[in-house]
Amino acid sequence: MGASTVAAQQVRADFTALYGAAPDGVWSAPGRVNLIGEHTDYNDGFVMPFALPHVTTAAVSRRTDGVLRLHSGDVDGGVAELALDALTPGEDHDWTAYPSGVVWALREAGHPVTGADIHLSSTVPTGAGLSSSAALEVVVALALNDLYELGLKRWELARLCQRAENVYVGAPTGIMDQTASACCSAGHALFLDTRDLSQKQIPFDLAAEGMRLLVVDTQVKHTHSNGEYGKRRAGCEKGADLLGVDALRDVPYADLDAALARLGDDEEVRRLVRHVVTEDERVERVVSLLESGDTAAIGPVLTEGHASLRDDFRISCPELDLVVDTALASGALGARMTGGGFGGSAIVLAEESAVPTITKAVEEAFASASYKAPRVFEAVPSAGAARLS
Ligand code: GLA
Repeated sequence: MGASTVAAQQVRADFTALYGAAPDGVWSAPGRVNLIGEHTDYNDGFVMPFALPHVTTAAVSRRTDGVLRLHSGDVDGGVAELALDALTPGEDHDWTAYPSGVVWALREAGHPVTGADIHLSSTVPTGAGLSSSAALEVVVALALNDLYELGLKRWELARLCQRAENVYVGAPTGIMDQTASACCSAGHALFLDTRDLSQKQIPFDLAAEGMRLLVVDTQVKHTHSNGEYGKRRAGCEKGADLLGVDALRDVPYADLDAALARLGDDEEVRRLVRHVVTEDERVERVVSLLESGDTAAIGPVLTEGHASLRDDFRISCPELDLVVDTALASGALGARMTGGGFGGSAIVLAEESAVPTITKAVEEAFASASYKAPRVFEAVPSAGAARLS
């Protein structure tokens, strides 16, 4: 029996014990890492995430009385009971804001959701830059889409989840994480154009090529609503305005120098623009390297991306830099921070034989710096959200 079947049975049993009847079904949605394409999604640019094997699992039943009951096996506290008509953006401040926000966004878009009992359990680390929030949103959206036979496509669910996060929760994030959780496919990275959500699944089977991708969770907790993410986003929008384009995606890489010259001495906006335009180009480079079978050659591109996030976008932190520098010094092919920044996780691409040396070096470097021990694990590109039973 696979791990997801065991998890589904447990979540089903816990739901039944909690609510006194078996659920209508069980669904799961994964967290993600982003291979390349950071802070490009709210600039209409390119991203390339893949799904983690870590998932949020939800057992769900319909209700017809306008009540939403929520319970998480990972959080202390009992069942939260909310009236659908009373759901108001900005008023829930704990984890329940994510599933409530999805229900709110569905209803606000005119979908006839009349209530639900939900029990959740997750293996996605929280606050680690691995999209635990998107997994939570997407699993609820997919379950309600199935149970209420709404017929929404995966990308439409992702958009509704993003709206829940932007408007209901109040975090000004892009569309990458929800699309990754909803649309990724095992053994592939998802090349996504965030302007029109067109997608291409790019085969990404590192094990077959003797390589591994490590995730190093620095255990430095990040949050998107703390203002820094929003400031970067506002700076990018200012750059687009000054350049007279809809979004920074519209500045061609070949015209970057001319664009920077037009921004004059606004050094901060120049740095943000330079990161976004070069990062879009890096995504395209990684796609063509992977399509031509030159996987090891993506390593230096990932490392360039880190330098750009550290020096131009300024969202790294000492712990993330230490992972990258130590991994590279001990034989990694490439390394970079992944996700929103200011903490969270880094990814490291390495030959399989180099993994023990790199892992040990990173752990020792953290111990010498008196940092909290990092959590290191191997990331295998896994499946997107699915109904389990
Ligand atoms: C967070 C956001 C995403 C994206 C990344 C940075 O994960 O949720 O929308 O902006 O940061 O690439």
